[in-house]
Amino acid sequence: MKTRWYKDAVIYQIYPRSFCDGNGDGIGDIKGIISKLDYIKSLGVDAVWLSPVYKSPNDDNGYDISDYRDIMDEFGTLDDWKEMLDGMHARGIRLVMDLVVNHTSDEHAWFVESRNKDSEYRDYYIWRKGRGKNGKKPPNNWTSNFVGPAWEYDEESGEWYLHLFSKKQPDLNWENPKVRQEVADICNYWFDLGVDGFRCDVITYISKQKGLPNGKVKFPIIGQEKYTVGPHYHEYMHELNQRSFSKYDSMTVGESIGITPDNAGEAIDERVEELDTVFSFDHMGVDFAMDVLPRKFNLAKYKKILNRWQQLPKTCQPTIFLENHDQPRCLPRFVGDYKDKRELAGMALATSMLFMRATPYIYQGQEIGMTNCNFKEEDYLDIMATRVFQLIKKYFPPLMPYAKKVMLKRARDHARTPMQWTDGENAGFSTTKPWMLVNPNYKEINVADNENREDSLLNFYRKAIAYRKGKDVIINGEFSLVYPKDKNIFAYIREYQGRKLFVLVNYKNKPVKFKMPKELTFTNANLALSNYSDSRPAPENMTLREYEAAVYELE
Ligand code: GLC
Ligand code: CA
Repeated sequence: MKTRWYKDAVIYQIYPRSFCDGNGDGIGDIKGIISKLDYIKSLGVDAVWLSPVYKSPNDDNGYDISDYRDIMDEFGTLDDWKEMLDGMHARGIRLVMDLVVNHTSDEHAWFVESRNKDSEYRDYYIWRKGRGKNGKKPPNNWTSNFVGPAWEYDEESGEWYLHLFSKKQPDLNWENPKVRQEVADICNYWFDLGVDGFRCDVITYISKQKGLPNGKVKFPIIGQEKYTVGPHYHEYMHELNQRSFSKYDSMTVGESIGITPDNAGEAIDERVEELDTVFSFDHMGVDFAMDVLPRKFNLAKYKKILNRWQQLPKTCQPTIFLENHDQPRCLPRFVGDYKDKRELAGMALATSMLFMRATPYIYQGQEIGMTNCNFKEEDYLDIMATRVFQLIKKYFPPLMPYAKKVMLKRARDHARTPMQWTDGENAGFSTTKPWMLVNPNYKEINVADNENREDSLLNFYRKAIAYRKGKDVIINGEFSLVYPKDKNIFAYIREYQGRKLFVLVNYKNKPVKFKMPKELTFTNANLALSNYSDSRPAPENMTLREYEAAVYELE
């Protein structure tokens, strides 16, 4: 029976490679996570979304899976994993695993077999003859999300296979009913071991356009095609829901490019029985495939986008996040140059996200205000940045300085520097040199220091999460923006059965005037939370200080 527990849940995302190293080899692992379960519990979160820990050759850090039923050696064993799960459940924390089934690794046994034209696994993937004389041109003009053509030629069989990500991530052929049954079996395997849900990686890519037609050419090396939410997407998701998700008290969240507020009902309405929720990327200010150009943050536009999701019917549950393992850090992305007010700015962001009508996700390190890193070219390890640099050097070297500038803002590596636990060696992440550069600012930004200060960002997150728990007005209340067009202030009212919550946040590193709007009527006010010790006890005409954030209960 589905209790829909996720409606009142805050979820913490762990990127295992960078969270905590338990055995001193420089790579985060499951033992490391186990050692931090009390810390995770102390945040007050209800569930963990764990990025992939399955067997993988790590072309894309675990998002290329070679065995769906076992754990990557670097991360530990299935027994370690079971111990971790028990430890979470004992603390009342649920576990949401990553499900990467648009593609497998090219080292997965299915793909290895499928290289053989006569194998029954051939049809597990998308193999096609090439175009042109001798078939030496790819079957269509699609490009991969990691830049370059989406097809790889296989000498032996003289055909091409499709990969919407790296060439070591061949796309599965979901039109094959056997593939769909395999996926359901994998999900049920983990559900039976006790997991509580799945985050479904690039799930809207599973159903390809009929006939794999050429896409419209937009930009030579980036993307020109539309391969999200294909013709059978809903059919496949409903089927998976019936064969697996709906049989457990589970939660699913899709990484769902192509699902918009206009069509969200078809994908996440409780009555359609597909996914429970999706991540939308609209508010991240970039189109996924074009995630290369830094754009200026515009608060009015941001609020407008979020508001559209907030207005979904009650049978659709929105999500909200500011960071994940693919995005740069939220500071200073959304709040400008915070200078010496990093923690106040972090609190402002926390306040504006945590009280929306949504399931909030917090990414590891966000709770202590970790920042982007001032990488040198050789520090980037992620396939996205390294491939971009490689191709630019090959085809257009004069663009390199620009590419470097872009990556300092946009690279996925920023989110993947090791978690900063202490000001000691390797930031307390490992006893050995970590697999990836530690951000040198760990001396000031670390968990231990946050623990020592009552008024730290970490303790603010704890307070805010605790306050949120179980409140009807937050779970079910109507959401309405106050001053939607204002470029400095993010303010909204939540309302449920006559009770109101008013959230007021200054997004700027300067004082900003706030004038009481007409709609904000009340007879009693209570200041429930704020990031200054002396915020006004009730909302009124006032000047908000730098990044001042307050939550008022109104009756
Ligand atoms: C998702 C993951 C990302 C990965 C990609 C391919 O976008 O979040 O990390 O590279 O899918 O699996
Ligand atoms: Ca390790």
